[in-house]
Amino acid sequence: MKIFLDTANINEIKKVKDIGLLDGVTTNPTLISKESGNFNDICKEICDIVKGPVSAEVVSTNAKDMIDEATKLSSISKHIVVKIPFTTDGLIATNELVQMGIPVNMTLIFSLTQALLACKAKATYLSPFVGRLDDIGSDGMELALQIKEMINTYKFNSEVIVASVRNINHVVLSINAGADIITMPPNIFWQMLKHPLTDIGIERFMQDWQRFIEKSR
Ligand code: E4P
Repeated sequence: MKIFLDTANINEIKKVKDIGLLDGVTTNPTLISKESGNFNDICKEICDIVKGPVSAEVVSTNAKDMIDEATKLSSISKHIVVKIPFTTDGLIATNELVQMGIPVNMTLIFSLTQALLACKAKATYLSPFVGRLDDIGSDGMELALQIKEMINTYKFNSEVIVASVRNINHVVLSINAGADIITMPPNIFWQMLKHPLTDIGIERFMQDWQRFIEKSR
């Protein structure tokens, strides 16, 4: 399973990259709005750090403009994956862009029928927003699981990115579901490393080692 960070913050990306476990990054207009600087420069810097897929979202709403914008975004770096929102125009643009060899992450997917159409448009990645579904009382992870099963059944080539991750349980459920990719905010990534018993275990080993050293003096 690949681990992506869902952020446009360079420092946070660098910290995870330094561990050597970062496979990609997803951004969106909201995440970009939290940073400052030029959009293209931010995307370029992220690509240079990650050296893996980096999703950058278009803000156009009609297919032609989406394609123009996507073409410009993809010229920033070979690592750019264009993020296209799930709309009718988004499907038209996705079909065209994938044929042009530009990878597409279809975003804002909230149902199995949307996921089917995104697969048929040959989207490279599908991003079901599990947290936002949970927010309205639906079961986001259940949708992610159903999409994964549909892709297996029909042998589509699209990969699932579990997105809108809110908590560590989403990560555990994604692992159990055999998700291809999960994109998570940096704070969730750091929670993956933590277990109180590991900290207690290390402290106890250190104390016992110290006792041994003092005894053997
Ligand atoms: C995914 O690609 C999106 O950027 C993201 O996961 C949205 O998450 P949110 O619902 O926390 O805004």
